[in-house]
Amino acid sequence: MKEADLKVLTGKDLVAVLDFRKLPKVLLHEHLDGGVRPSTVIELARENGYGGLPTEDAGELAAWFHRGAQKGNLPEYLEGFQHTCGVMQTKEALQRVAYEFLEDMKQDGVVYSEVRFAPLLHTEGGLTQDEVVNSVLAGLRHGEKDFGVKWGLIICALRHLDSSLEAAELAIRWRDAGVVGFDLAGGESGFPPKKHIDAFHAIQRANFQITIHAGEAFGLESIWQALQYCGAHRLGHATRLRDDIQIREDGSLKLGILAQYVLDRRIPLEMCLYSNLHTGACKNLTEHPFGLFFRNGFRVCLNTDDRLMSDTTMTKETVLATELFDLSLAELERLNMNAVKSAFAPFDTRVDIIYNTIKAGYAAIRGERE
Ligand code: ADE
Ligand code: ZN
Repeated sequence: MKEADLKVLTGKDLVAVLDFRKLPKVLLHEHLDGGVRPSTVIELARENGYGGLPTEDAGELAAWFHRGAQKGNLPEYLEGFQHTCGVMQTKEALQRVAYEFLEDMKQDGVVYSEVRFAPLLHTEGGLTQDEVVNSVLAGLRHGEKDFGVKWGLIICALRHLDSSLEAAELAIRWRDAGVVGFDLAGGESGFPPKKHIDAFHAIQRANFQITIHAGEAFGLESIWQALQYCGAHRLGHATRLRDDIQIREDGSLKLGILAQYVLDRRIPLEMCLYSNLHTGACKNLTEHPFGLFFRNGFRVCLNTDDRLMSDTTMTKETVLATELFDLSLAELERLNMNAVKSAFAPFDTRVDIIYNTIKAGYAAIRGERE
């Protein structure tokens, strides 16, 4: 196929001719405990005497996680994590999961990835939170060496607990070893971000970086608090920002002041299509606001959230978005540029990835097919 043809193809036509796995992709929103390989969950359960798994067949276990995640609400979606966290309670298990994460990223064509987790959920076997973080970092360093995928680690606090300041201090303590930021995760409804204001102030005083799950299972108030109380630099999901946008009869948009602020300030939106369907953040994928946001200049990027629970990969999310929103190759490049510009990696690293990996990679793909 000629270069010119690739440039004009969109949607399903592009999917038909392009190997999406080979597209250089950037992933900013994935949970370490949401992306464990089913076979690894089973092996770790055996090694560590964890008896709670519903089955020891990898295919059945994957299907079990996926079934459980499709109940249409966030609290039930999150139930499966008890098992992945249950088997990630030793240094070796944490290192292995982190290492395999980067191996999976390589397979999926991801060139830079930020992965997040809540260390507090991995202390039941007696590890301290510092040991937990140290083990994950060791696995990521080893994975980078073997697979060449760059990464950053984000420490999550949990909205329903009162330990967020401790999590923030932990994140700051490990910033020179690969921790790049701080997040607030877990059930959103009933747990407003501003309850964790002390943690966010600690991060801000340390000149550190913040992303917050907001606008997934709750609406505009949550997004507004994340930005204006807690100082979020990025938003996880932000699906409900759609509630602040009206489409007039002539097709033009009327933005509310929050949506206008997010657009004007170039606030990155870490959108996760399949996960949003599974948690009920969107009713169906064709009505997902990703397309509306992207086509109107919002800084959106594509993400997986929880590869195991949502049975997804970056390749699948990219194919899905391309088909649903009729994207072109140039738009896919722009989406990944949005992601790398929004990454918490240092500026020099981002510039390097932009020029040497994303721009060069998409140019090569266009050239390869001449
Ligand atoms: N933890 C893992 N996945 C999550 C999600 N989609 N929302 C909030 N917390 C999470
Ligand atoms: Zn998430």
